Amino acid sequence: MSGRGGVRGIIARWRGRDIELKSPAELEAMRAAGALVARTLAAVVEQTKPGVSTAELDALAEQTIRDAGAVPSFLGYHGYPASICSSVNEQIVHGIPSLTQILADGDLISVDCGAILDGWHGDAAVTIPVGAVSPSDLALSAACEVALYAGIEAVQPGGRLSDISHAVQVAAEAAGRRDGVGYGIVAEYGGHGIGTAMHMDPFLPNFGEPGQGPRLVPGMALAVEPMLTAGDPTTRELDDGWTVVTADGGRAVHWEHSVAITEDGPRVLTVLSD
Ligand code: MF3
Ligand code: CO
Repeated sequence: MSGRGGVRGIIARWRGRDIELKSPAELEAMRAAGALVARTLAAVVEQTKPGVSTAELDALAEQTIRDAGAVPSFLGYHGYPASICSSVNEQIVHGIPSLTQILADGDLISVDCGAILDGWHGDAAVTIPVGAVSPSDLALSAACEVALYAGIEAVQPGGRLSDISHAVQVAAEAAGRRDGVGYGIVAEYGGHGIGTAMHMDPFLPNFGEPGQGPRLVPGMALAVEPMLTAGDPTTRELDDGWTVVTADGGRAVHWEHSVAITEDGPRVLTVLSD
């Protein structure tokens, strides 16, 4: 229910595409959905250790979401069979949880989770080290998290969408120079508008020149989600039709928050409530 003729008639237009604008009360509702996603991810982080299967993490996430009276948004999305995406090591995104995928010491897993509460979506992802992870993997994950927060800082009213893309790219490249690694930025996937649906316009690339694309106005909400690779960022999709891996087998990480644009700047929605 969005766009012209819907219950919420408030939209911005960019080259013929609608961008949903939320009222302050609607952003509060999104904040509640986001808090549930944050709480679910915290529960998953708590249980992520060697010997645990990704299917167990999925069951925990689904239960946490349903116990709150919400619905897991990933489950059934274009036929997706689970409530989280669990992407281990060379898997970048959209890894399908499995009973036979047992986490081992030294693994690096990204868990992506979404929930619908009172009709509003939250979407966030974290990368979690399993046991003792190599310093280079920790640096890769830290670089991606720093790039996420650099992107979030660029979610400013009056700015342009690609200011966010550019900020993510600059931060990822700076981290790579500091770490002496040319981190790859995954090009085929990126962030997105979010609100009454999980994936809405606009698409948000994780690189690009600043000053392009729609103007950022209060009431917009975006999922910012950089994906970085230790090596070449070329991707390949597995035969399961979902799992995206690095073509070179190198490790990949993914961090994501849903963020609203307010008069005062960015407001991260997918955080625990105080
Ligand atoms: N949450 C992912 C994203 O960040 C999308 C997952 S789609 C699913 O955009 F079908 F795998 F659930
Ligand atoms: Co997302």
